Formats: sequence, C-alpha cells, structure tokens
Amino acid sequence: MMPVFQHPRCVNCHGGVNPFIERTGPDPADEAAPVSTVVHGGGPIRRTNDKAPDGTGLIESECRDCHDNMAPRRDGSKSVWMTAPNFLSFVDKDATALCRQIKRASQDAEHLIGHMTDDNGGNNFTATAYNGDRGLDPDRYGNVQPAPPSISHQAFIQLGRKWVAAMGGELAGDESCGCVMPTIKLEVHHTQSMEVPRGLPSKEASDVKFQVDLEPAGDDKPGFFLGQQSLTRTINMTLPQNCEGKASRGERWQLWALVDSVTGSIKVAQVAFDDEPKGYIECRNDRGKGRIDPLMPGPGPANSPGFQELVIPPDSTTKTVRGGDKNWSESLTITLLEVPGK
Ligand code: HEC
Ligand code: HEC
Repeated sequence: MMPVFQHPRCVNCHGGVNPFIERTGPDPADEAAPVSTVVHGGGPIRRTNDKAPDGTGLIESECRDCHDNMAPRRDGSKSVWMTAPNFLSFVDKDATALCRQIKRASQDAEHLIGHMTDDNGGNNFTATAYNGDRGLDPDRYGNVQPAPPSISHQAFIQLGRKWVAAMGGELAGDESCGCVMPTIKLEVHHTQSMEVPRGLPSKEASDVKFQVDLEPAGDDKPGFFLGQQSLTRTINMTLPQNCEGKASRGERWQLWALVDSVTGSIKVAQVAFDDEPKGYIECRNDRGKGRIDPLMPGPGPANSPGFQELVIPPDSTTKTVRGGDKNWSESLTITLLEVPGK
C-alpha cells in the first residue's frame, strides 16, 4: 500500500503542497522532486474569506475555481477539493510512520477501507487521485498530464482489505505495525599494538570501537544472525621527533551470532578484511624533508588464534580475548547490547 500513500497524487494533498504560501522549489510536474518542496502549480492562493494580507500578491480564489473536475460523491453530488489537515500529513514519512499514523487517525477498519474507496461517500478524494488529473479540467489545463498512482484503485483497496484481515479484521488497538525484526546489537572493541625496535614507525597502535546490528539469517537458520560494518581505523604511530605522519586503514568486518536456545549462550564469530594502509611519514633533517612511502603495514584486523569465535556464556553479556607476543598485542571485546527476548 505504501507506494500509493507515498505517491504525489496522495502526498501532495497530504502536506506536500501548500497553496497558501509563496514557495520556490522544483517543477511541480517533476514526479521525482522531493514532495515536501513541491510548488503549487496554480500559484500562491489567498482564500476569498481570508483577511487580505496586503501586498502579498496572492491570487484570490476558491480551490474549486480550478480543481473542479473531481470524481463525484457517492450520491452524485459535487466533491470539493481541499488539502488534508496537518495531522494527516504523509510528507517524508516511511512505511512504519505512515502505518502508525493511519492506525491512530482512522476510526476503524471499515472507515479506512471506505476512505480508500470513495471517502465513505464524502468528497471523493481517492477516486480523484486515481483519475490522476489533480481535479483539473483537461480542457483548461491540457498541459497537466494524468499521473495516477502506480497500482490500480481496485488493487489498492484489495491490499487494504488484506492488511485489515491480517490484523484480525480490525485496526488492532495499539499502534504496532507488523512484525519488528529481532536483532542482536553488539559492540565490538578491538585494540592492536605493535613495536618495531629501530624501525620507523617504532610503534603502531590502534583502537576501534563500533556497534553493529545483526539480523536473522533466515527462517531456515533459526537462532543465526549476521551483520557487517565498514570502518576507517586510525593508526597511531610513534615517530622520532623530526618526523610526523598520519595513517589509517579501511576495514570491513562481518559478524555472525548463533544463539544456543538450550543453554542460552551466544557464539559470536567474526572475519575482517582490510585495505592497504593509507598515509605518509615525513622526516626533516638539515638538508630538507623527505617522505617515506609506503608505510610499514601493521597487523590486519582481529586474527589472533581464539579471536575468530567467542562464546558469551548465558550469565554474561561480554567476553574479551587477548593475544600477541613480545612485540605485539591485540585484544577483542564483544559486548551484547541488545538480544531478542531479553
Ligand atoms: C484533494 C486532496 C486529497 C487527495 C488527492 C487525497 N486526500 Fe486523503 N484526505 C484528504 C482530506 C481533506 C482528508 C480528511 C477528511 C476526510 O477524511 O475526508 C483526507 C483523509 C485521508 C485519510 C484518513 C481517513 C480516515 O480513515 O480517517 C487517509 C487514510 C487518506 N486521506 C488517504 C489518501 C490516499 C491513499 C490518497 C491517494 C490515493 C489520498 N488520501 C488523496 C484530502 C485528500
Ligand atoms: C488558478 C488555478 C488554481 C487554483 C485557484 C488552485 N489550484 Fe491547486 N493546482 C493548480 C494547478 C495548475 C496545479 C498543478 C497541477 C500539476 O501540474 O501537477 C495544482 C496543484 C495542486 C495540488 C497538487 C495536487 C496533486 O495531486 O499533485 C494541490 C494539493 C492543490 N493544487 C491544492 C489547492 C488548494 C487547496 C487550492 C485552494 C486553496 C488550490 N489548489 C487552488 C491550479 C489551481
């Protein structure tokens, strides 16, 4: 249903176009224009019964002077064109926000379906939207091409009925909108430090911390979640006083989690890929300065033995592993921030 709700024929009446103010913005006929900036094609309008705000140059007119070609009401009488009240604005709202709004604003399911059909016999806004002509007479506004929503009116109503049926035949009491995907939110903290006696730089150290959401891998893999994160790691270098430098490396981390439904422990696995480090080292002496390039490549992301798979026991939310030798150390801490059902 959402591509219809988000279509200009609906959004423009629901907050997208304000004919009462002067606006600059893209061509209203440009369907790709961000709806919140659409200019009123009929120019700025002043309602006839408005107190004249002098000098504004607004056209004094009724909407129906131009938008007089609406789908009739159920009883055959004329519909009247008007924009929707603010609390029914569809502008810049995603599917979840719109779903919540509809559930909040509509009296009941019958009323909503009635509105989607022919506004329950009132001003026939939806059928007019489906004519695609903005309620404008083609003889007077031949340059306005009909541009109705992408799916047919019948298909739209069908989808509305399916949605209501999926909620048990009514707009169920609360504002929840469909299933919320369970995710595992993790924090990853990884440090590395490498010393190279008499090398340049003599030490490289780095510390990255990021959060990542892991999503269910699929119905056929119960308890299995995955996610990924790209980052730029700053490498801090220890350099002699006459040198300065900067270094960083792009990394892509992939993480998996397997929830053991019997014991409640969570196994977290990771693999990370890294790009060549970027940066420079520049040293000065009495004769000038010189650049050292390329950098000494430091160790890549978390690769020490025991780092690929960590098991977080059920009574804990965090696990740290350490590795390294005389000139090199590394640590990885995984912390569970959110776990479904906890
Ligand atoms: C000419 C302007 C206009 C157009 C075009 C228009 N609407 Fe509306 N809409 C309104 C107004 C005004 C209201 C509030 C009064 C009413 O409910 O009739 C409204 C109310 C609504 C409501 C709330 C109804 C309820 O259940 O209480 C929904 C949902 C809605 N519109 C959906 C749509 C959709 C979907 C489209 C496009 C297919 C659309 N509208 C096109 C003006 C418009
Ligand atoms: C002078 C003629 C004229 C008057 C008066 C007029 N309009 Fe318009 N309106 C237009 C034209 C022309 C368009 C642009 C059609 C297009 O190219 O998309 C338009 C477009 C709109 C749209 C966008 C509809 C859509 O589906 O994209 C809305 C909403 C709108 N007018 C509301 C109003 C309201 C509310 C009033 C009365 C306060 C009003 N208009 C008065 C001529 C007029």
